[in-house]
Amino acid sequence: MTTSQRKRSTVATAANNDSDPEQETVWHLDNQRLSTRIFLASMIIVLSFLILFTSLSYTTQTVIVQQPSVDVYSQLETHPYAKTLVCPCTSILNEYKNFISFRPTFHQICSSIFLGQQWLDYLLKTSAIIYIRDFRAAGLAFFPLLGTLCNLSLETISTELLNFNATKYATKNLQPRDLFQSEAQQITTLFQQTTRNSFLLQLAIFQQTISSNALFNGWLTNYFYGLSNVTDSLNIVFYPSFYTPDDNDLNITCSCKYSPTTCGQSSGIYNLTKGRVR
Ligand SMILES: *[C@@H]1O[C@H](CO)[C@@H](O)[C@H](O)[C@H]1NC(C)=O
Ligand SMILES: *[C@@H]1O[C@H](CO)[C@@H](O)[C@H](O)[C@H]1NC(C)=O
Ligand SMILES: *[C@@H]1O[C@H](CO)[C@@H](O)[C@H](O)[C@H]1NC(C)=O
Ligand SMILES: *[C@@H]1O[C@H](CO)[C@@H](O)[C@H](O)[C@H]1NC(C)=O
Ligand SMILES: *[C@@H]1O[C@H](CO)[C@@H](O)[C@H](O)[C@H]1NC(C)=O
Repeated sequence: MTTSQRKRSTVATAANNDSDPEQETVWHLDNQRLSTRIFLASMIIVLSFLILFTSLSYTTQTVIVQQPSVDVYSQLETHPYAKTLVCPCTSILNEYKNFISFRPTFHQICSSIFLGQQWLDYLLKTSAIIYIRDFRAAGLAFFPLLGTLCNLSLETISTELLNFNATKYATKNLQPRDLFQSEAQQITTLFQQTTRNSFLLQLAIFQQTISSNALFNGWLTNYFYGLSNVTDSLNIVFYPSFYTPDDNDLNITCSCKYSPTTCGQSSGIYNLTKGRVR
């Protein structure tokens, strides 16, 4: 029997009893007690449904860690929910120099005594009395050139470093460690290649300029000139030098005219009355 039916039947009974006030109060009390019970029962049912529902449904809980240190972040990375970990960077662009640095080392010849003035002074003293193809004579041109190349490599590296330092790494969120490591590895390799190529390019320009213009060097070791072999001619003729690149087979020769950048011969120390000593 529902409340309304009961109500209707009691209303009908009340009408029959000709509205006795005492009976009416009892009826009211009964009615109120019943509705309270029904209310409580339905309340409990609804509440238990609500509790059941909320305990079964998934909820997303966001935990914010303010400015975590590297250690804290590493711990968070091992958390079971690490996949949902997002760590926005305070600045999207970061200069490479903040996390990659280079310490270039140069060949020991570049800091050796052989590029110093003392060594040059010694060569200058001895060169006057010896053969032009002697190591000590050629050295007078060779060592300052080597010094220039050392300086060129130094300048190339510092220019490239300056560019590198100003280059920025762009990322919105913190990268996973292994991804970042391999990216840094690539950046480093790329920098080394770029620097090497930059130097080689300058060296190639330098070599090509000299050889394609057939520039004479000061010691006349690539070209030399002499009088024409035609009798009575006063013309000056330029001859390219020939060298024997292989010490074991003096029949093999090369010409500075045809292979200007590769033709050469190892230098020696000579005694003009005895020939090549070493
Ligand atoms: C190389 O650079 C240093 C320092 O700038 C300079 O003192 C030296 O003369 C340079 N050497 C050559 C061969 O240009
Ligand atoms: C590049 O940055 C590094 C690290 O901050 C610094 O040691 C180096 O001197 C910089 N190099 C140049 C060429 O600015
Ligand atoms: C002069 O030199 C050229 C080239 O080396 C050679 O071909 C020519 O036979 C020489 N002439 C004389 C007269 O020696
Ligand atoms: C160099 O050439 C000469 C003359 O053609 C020959 O007698 C000699 O055996 C050759 N030397 C070598 C190492 O081939
Ligand atoms: C060159 O060799 C000759 C003969 O062996 C020797 O007398 C002379 O002292 C040597 N010269 C030098 C500069 O060593």
